[in-house]
Amino acid sequence: MNQTATAAQVAPPIEFPAHVTNPKLRDWVASVAQLTKPARIYWCDGSQEEYDRLNQEMVDSGMLIKLNDVKRPGCFLARSDPDDVARMEDRTFVCSANKEDAGPNNNWVAPSEMRATLTKLFDGCMRGRTMYVIPYSMGPLGSHIAHIGVEITDSPYVVVSMRIMTRIGRKVLDVLGPTGYFVPCLHSVGAPLAPGEKDVRWPSNKEQKYIVHFPEDKSIWSFGSGYGGNALLGKKCFALRIASIMAREQGWLAEHMLILGIQPPIGKKHYIAAAFPSACGKTNLAMLIPPKALKGWKVTTIGEDIAWIKPGKDGRLYAINPEAGAFGVAPGTSEETNPNCLAALRENTIFTNVAMTPDGDVWWEGLTKQPPKDLTDWQGNRWTPDSGKPAAHPNARFTVAAEQIPSLDPDWENPGGVPISAFLFGGRRTTTVPLVSEAYDWTHGVYMAATMASETTAAIVGKVGVVRRDPFAMLPFCGYHFGDYFQHWLKLGRALGKPPKVFSVNWFRRDENGRFMWPGFGENMRVLKWIVERCDGKAAAQDTPIGRMPRYEDLDWDGLNVTREDYEKLTNVDPKAWREEVKDHSRLFEQLKSRLPNELADKRNELEQAIK
Ligand code: OXD
Ligand code: MN
Repeated sequence: MNQTATAAQVAPPIEFPAHVTNPKLRDWVASVAQLTKPARIYWCDGSQEEYDRLNQEMVDSGMLIKLNDVKRPGCFLARSDPDDVARMEDRTFVCSANKEDAGPNNNWVAPSEMRATLTKLFDGCMRGRTMYVIPYSMGPLGSHIAHIGVEITDSPYVVVSMRIMTRIGRKVLDVLGPTGYFVPCLHSVGAPLAPGEKDVRWPSNKEQKYIVHFPEDKSIWSFGSGYGGNALLGKKCFALRIASIMAREQGWLAEHMLILGIQPPIGKKHYIAAAFPSACGKTNLAMLIPPKALKGWKVTTIGEDIAWIKPGKDGRLYAINPEAGAFGVAPGTSEETNPNCLAALRENTIFTNVAMTPDGDVWWEGLTKQPPKDLTDWQGNRWTPDSGKPAAHPNARFTVAAEQIPSLDPDWENPGGVPISAFLFGGRRTTTVPLVSEAYDWTHGVYMAATMASETTAAIVGKVGVVRRDPFAMLPFCGYHFGDYFQHWLKLGRALGKPPKVFSVNWFRRDENGRFMWPGFGENMRVLKWIVERCDGKAAAQDTPIGRMPRYEDLDWDGLNVTREDYEKLTNVDPKAWREEVKDHSRLFEQLKSRLPNELADKRNELEQAIK
């Protein structure tokens, strides 16, 4: 391997490549090497040659399987440890100096205690392994909305994934220069190798897992897991938890939102940012193809998971996608649900925990109506349709570069971002919440977002299908007290000359027989069309106790058979269900009361009156 510096089993004298000019970075890397005692240190340059070489090394060691080069050129499959398959919210911590600052929405341990715990765990944890240093940029290099992080990891899978998900390597160090600011992100799978010990397929630490954020010095320490958001630290740890703290300090927003562009047949293009909890179809919405009947409407993709949003001089908000790729949930992705995504996955994709066909292609539940007769499941066992368990893990993922998405917006790397016309907030709600409603004003919009809820999915370890309040879809990702976060949103919106409109949506309502009442996917365009027309002042709406809603005749039904009666059911605001809903809002507010903005308590009281 082309190492730029080496370290012995013990404290290294480190040789730094000449282009590493940042003294803080040098000191940090040296101190991490001293603590973790890797066999060698490698500075990632971000090149294709490096990516290919690391993949080949993982194929040789058994960590990756090379997929069929004709059917899936340049694609690989990783199978994780069965105990390491999703984000672990109960092992995720925000260790602020003051417990109250982390809020009831975060697990908290005193920073000194957590540092002591982590220092013990990291001591020698990279023995026998390579320590990779990955300089990366979240956002287009040099954009005023972008920020730099450096991840140190002992997982080559993390390196190749970070190369897809962010912009990494030498070019980032050039932007960082000797004085630039970076967020230090330390990751280890927590599985040191004794001399001569053979590595396992997916190293991780079965006993100890920690994903820790220190808000005061804005650093991240992650130990024991090699999976997704636990290990690719640019994503949830930096771009949401730490960035949300930076955003509050600096007057911007770091949000769990997709960004899409909508071009009407005539008139100006709009950009919308939409927050949904994990695995609620953000990727599908971001890559939506409008139904043929809605002639001339076009949707383009800026991002599918995270948005960084800053106020512009013109009183509008401008958003970038800080990521450079998608780490999306594979099950359910098909030619029907998301053809753009499937096209993106044809090549150069890393799949994790999907099933494999006998000819080395991939499969997951929902990809085809009929499952193949014979597969290898996500754990490497033979699988047939009678096996009685999923072939792919429900949180199986693909990692793919944004550039492969056919619907990518030409402005996706615009360093100035794109102007946001509307925010959408949506959860997975079987009952109660109507298809769409528009907030009366900014404060009402913040109230809608603060009180949204969703049924939990396989993206997190724990119980699936339980309704939980997930304010702004940020429950697992807001790095500080939700009361302060709501206040930040209220304040930021008040200062805007042209704040975006705010909408609540729910694609997931079911009838008394448990059937979805809304077709979803491409048909969501009908709701997006109404939203854009509202932004342009062209569409009508009626006032209801919970917000402004389209009447049946306000939506375009061309090519879709939804009767007025179906629509009434789909949009019904049941006072009894809403009284329960508001009680649950009150329970959330009770938990946050020490820092809850008064405006939101007032809005809750107004709603209570309105639905009486
Ligand atoms: C994700 C998540 O991976 O939200 O995007 O869990
Ligand atoms: Mn997400």
